Formats: sequence, C-alpha cells, structure tokens
Amino acid sequence: MNIPFFSFKTMHPAIKTEIMNRLEAFYDSHWYVLGQYVKDFEKEYANYNNTKYCIGVANGLDALHIALKALGVGPGDEVIVPSNTYIATWLAVSYVGATIVPVEPNPKTFNLDPDKFKNAITEKTKAVMPVHLYGQSCEMDRIMAIAKANNIFVVEDNAQSQGARCEGQLTGSFGQVNGVSFYPGKNLGALGDAGGITTDDEELDLKCRTIRNYGSQKKYYNKIIGINSRLDEAHAATLLVKLPHLDAWNAERVRIADQYRKHLQGIEGIILPFIASQVTSVYHQFIIRHQRRDELQTYLKENGIGTLIHYPVPPHLQEAYSHLNFKAGDFPIAEELAQTMLSLPIYPGLSEKEVAYIAEKVKEFTFKA
Ligand SMILES: Cc1ncc(COP(=O)(O)O)c(C=O)c1O
Repeated sequence: MNIPFFSFKTMHPAIKTEIMNRLEAFYDSHWYVLGQYVKDFEKEYANYNNTKYCIGVANGLDALHIALKALGVGPGDEVIVPSNTYIATWLAVSYVGATIVPVEPNPKTFNLDPDKFKNAITEKTKAVMPVHLYGQSCEMDRIMAIAKANNIFVVEDNAQSQGARCEGQLTGSFGQVNGVSFYPGKNLGALGDAGGITTDDEELDLKCRTIRNYGSQKKYYNKIIGINSRLDEAHAATLLVKLPHLDAWNAERVRIADQYRKHLQGIEGIILPFIASQVTSVYHQFIIRHQRRDELQTYLKENGIGTLIHYPVPPHLQEAYSHLNFKAGDFPIAEELAQTMLSLPIYPGLSEKEVAYIAEKVKEFTFKA
C-alpha cells in the first residue's frame, strides 16, 4: 500500500463542481478584494464558531499578530505562550515587540499546563496564548479562570482545532480575541493562505478590521499604522462551500482516531494521545510517541506510509530565536516531545483498511524493536 501523510483525494472531488461554480461566479463578479464573499464568510464563520464577529485576514499568523496589536500588547509586556507549538504563536508576540514567556505543556495532552501558566504570571503579564494543538482544546475552563483572576487577556490560537470544545463551548470563543488559520491542510482549509479572527467585542472587531486594512476605516483615510492582511474574495468564496462540511469532516477524523486507538491500545512502547476529560479533539493530527521514533518513521516509510513530525525543533531552540539565549534543557517536556512524537496519516477519506494497515505496520515495528 502507498498511503500519503495527507490527501484531498476524497474531500476535494466531492465538492469540485460546487467549488468551480463558486469560483466562476467570483470571477464574473469583477470584485476581488473585500466584497460580498468575505462579508458572507465572516458572518457564517462567526455563526459556526458562536462568536459575534469574525474578521477575515490573509493567514493565521496575521490573525494572531493583529489580535495582539488590537489588545494593545507591546514592548514591556509579557505574553505567555506554550513551549510546544508551531512557531507562528511565538512570531506573533515578536511582531508586537512583547516579551515571550514560554510555559511547558502537560506531556499527556501536549497542551499548555494551566498550573504552569499560573506560576509564570508576573506583574508584566499582559496576555496568554493557549494553542489548541493537534485538534484538542486546551483546558479553557481552568485557563480562563486563572486569566480572569489575574486580569490577563486570552488570545486563543485556534489554527488547528476548528470545531473542538471545552465543556461544550467551542474553541476560538473563549478569549477576548482569537486567531484561526485556514491554511489548506487545516481541518477547514482554503485553496491557499487564509485566516480569521474571532471575537465577541464590538470595539476589538472594529480595531482588527482597521488594522487588517492599512489602518483605514474610510478609503484613503488612515487612522493608525495598519497592515495589508485581507482575506481574499476567492478564498472566502471557496471557504463558504467548505464550511458546511467541517463537522462531517471532523467526525471522520474522530472515527479514524478511534480506529487507531482500537488497534494500538496497550501496545508496548507506544504512547497514544490523551484527551482531557472536559474537552474534545477534532484530531487535526493523530500523534503517537515512541522512544525510537526516527526508526519507526523510517520503517513506516519503507512500507509506503507517509508520516510527519510536529515539530522536530521547539521554538526556543530555533535559530530564529537564538537571540533569546535559550538552551537545550530549558524546556525538557517540549524537547522530549520533539524527540518522540510522530504524526500518523489522518484525513477524511482515509479508509478503515488503510488505518488497519498503518496500525499493523506500527505494531510490526514494535514487536521487532
Ligand atoms: C498552531 C498554529 N498557529 C498558527 C499557525 C499559522 O497559520 P498560517 O499558516 O495560516 O499563518 C499555524 C499554521 O500553520 C499553526 O499550526
């Protein structure tokens, strides 16, 4: 068998006609930036996410950057971020000139540890950025309570978890202002880079809209120094077609995850992902851990199975952050995860037979190891 790490093979052909019709209508509209499709998608996504507002932007990184900027986070402020995340979370803090304060994850859930977040708070802490990594909601009940008690803004990084919940509430609807990515491979992905900001706050909504559009509310009149980060009409048009499928696609990811669990439960040497009791996961990734991860990855590759590592180098050890003078050993949980995690294929359309084959090869490796 040949199983790629990710494929649109089922998702995209099923909606091709609808997408092509929508793209044709977009093309014929002769209106390509900030038009009706962006307005409609913003309304539909806010509705889906149970927030009052959604602001369409160019990508998930810009969404986080604009969110922090809208809150007035800047030089001298500390922002608490996970030590285990995609680098975008850290970059957004760098863009506004604030100080990055990394906090280790719970090694079982991979997500920000609420107790460690609490211990990292100082009088300079202005915001915390919980990242719902790999599809699982952070423990937002606890994080929100700690943030509220300490007067700290919450900016959720919901790039990987559209549709996940904590105590029934959707991720991306807890923080004052939150970022989401619609990068093609995300659970809800555009046909290129795209992102959004979600908020219930009218004032923050207006601020984010102003920042994303050159700091302008009226054409050619600029209130503040903004950026150009608008969701393209073409992406909004196709996202409108894809959004109604998101829950079904997420359900399929959950089905695949359950199947992996059934096959791999109790296999010595394999650590399966753990979902905290009050939250759900939409399984953006299905990540297993193994002490001989690199050999396991090679073995799977030899057997036609694509896998990835999310992520091989934690942000504090990236060259880009060498000026912060972190060193190996500073965040041992993130470092250990980077050494042992392996993401198995998970996407709508991955068949039961394929999942069984992948699990079989993982087991074969562990029996040999
Ligand atoms: C956790 C996380 N945050 C932020 C981003 C940034 O999103 P984008 O790639 O749309 O800029 C991503 C996606 O790549 C991500 O995985």
